[in-house]
Amino acid sequence: MGSLADNDITPIWSEAFETGDPEIDRQHQCLLVDSVRLKALVERGAPRDEVIAALTALIADCSAHFRFEEAMLRNTNFPRAEVHAGQHQAIEAMLQQLANMIADPSGTAPESDQLTITMEQKIIEIIVRHDLDFKSHLLAVHGR
Ligand SMILES: [Fe+2]
Ligand SMILES: [Fe+2]
Repeated sequence: MGSLADNDITPIWSEAFETGDPEIDRQHQCLLVDSVRLKALVERGAPRDEVIAALTALIADCSAHFRFEEAMLRNTNFPRAEVHAGQHQAIEAMLQQLANMIADPSGTAPESDQLTITMEQKIIEIIVRHDLDFKSHLLAVHGR
């Protein structure tokens, strides 16, 4: 997963996205950077294999982040840890479906471009806001 400092892409970040754990927040920021980078590639008409590579990186970072977050929720006895892990699985399946659609050479370019551009919004909606469910739990665990 890249760091925020190694590129000049400024993701949309809001204090409202903070989860109560700085490492989870850092990973969320990286996912947003991944999605902003992906959108930039599509918008400047980058070759399809570059777009697919960026989407593959985003999916890999998402999966790594989900495993990290699930371990933290289980280790801190978050009561809805298993439900949350199940939601992650559904998100991963959706991302994989999207990647398959974009990699399909018979698909239409404008359609997959539109889907790829909306990834940034999806990351914010599904991954960041979805995690507000455990914010008060982590704040309590960290004694804040
Ligand atoms: Fe998350
Ligand atoms: Fe999550």
